[in-house]
Amino acid sequence: MQPSISDFLLERRSVSAKDMCEPGPNEEQLDIILRAAHRVPDHGKIGPWRFVIFQGDAREAFGDQLARKFAKKQEDASKKQIEFERERFMRAPLIIAVVSSPVNHPNVPEWEQVLSAGAACQNVVLAAHALGFGAQWLTEWYAYDKRIAKKLSLTSEEKIAGFIYIGSYENKPSERTRPDLNERIRCYRKGS
Ligand SMILES: Cc1cc2nc3c(=O)[nH]c(=O)nc-3n(C[C@H](O)[C@H](O)[C@H](O)COP(=O)(O)O)c2cc1C
Repeated sequence: MQPSISDFLLERRSVSAKDMCEPGPNEEQLDIILRAAHRVPDHGKIGPWRFVIFQGDAREAFGDQLARKFAKKQEDASKKQIEFERERFMRAPLIIAVVSSPVNHPNVPEWEQVLSAGAACQNVVLAAHALGFGAQWLTEWYAYDKRIAKKLSLTSEEKIAGFIYIGSYENKPSERTRPDLNERIRCYRKGS
């Protein structure tokens, strides 16, 4: 039986990219994930995000770029480390890069547009989970690397909000410790 939506949200856990396997979402499921990502709160109807999809051979090609850029960035990198970078995108059958693409707007601060791209990331994660896949929102070093940004044709205003890894998995992840919720809640009272 499917959990209620509130239970689904309360039980959600990321699945580590290294624990993912085939199959990934099919075309129809990918379309659902992207439409969910596209349907987030968005002040000013700007749509300050875009998506880059990595599947099949494209993951290998991007892995070659990661290996190359990593070797340039870290000159003393071992062969093992470089090979690890080459394999990074092979951890999952599908990776969606969510790009934050804010525009100059008279009424909508950039901060709000960045938050909206973050919401798009979370909707990718939730939609993938809802379809029975594992998902993990990662940035790792290459989200912040200028050479990789160039390779992905990011403009100077754009940033990677996340690389969302999506795939099947065998074992349900166990719960992890979480920050204390009560410490983070205060009721505003008159006279505060
Ligand atoms: C913007 C962002 C970037 C993240 N980048 C990484 C990362 O590079 N490496 C990592 O291990 N976890 C990263 N995480 C955390 C994972 O996505 C995930 O939240 C974590 O594995 C905990 O699992 P949970 O979602 O079940 O709480 C990132 C989370 C966010 C929101």
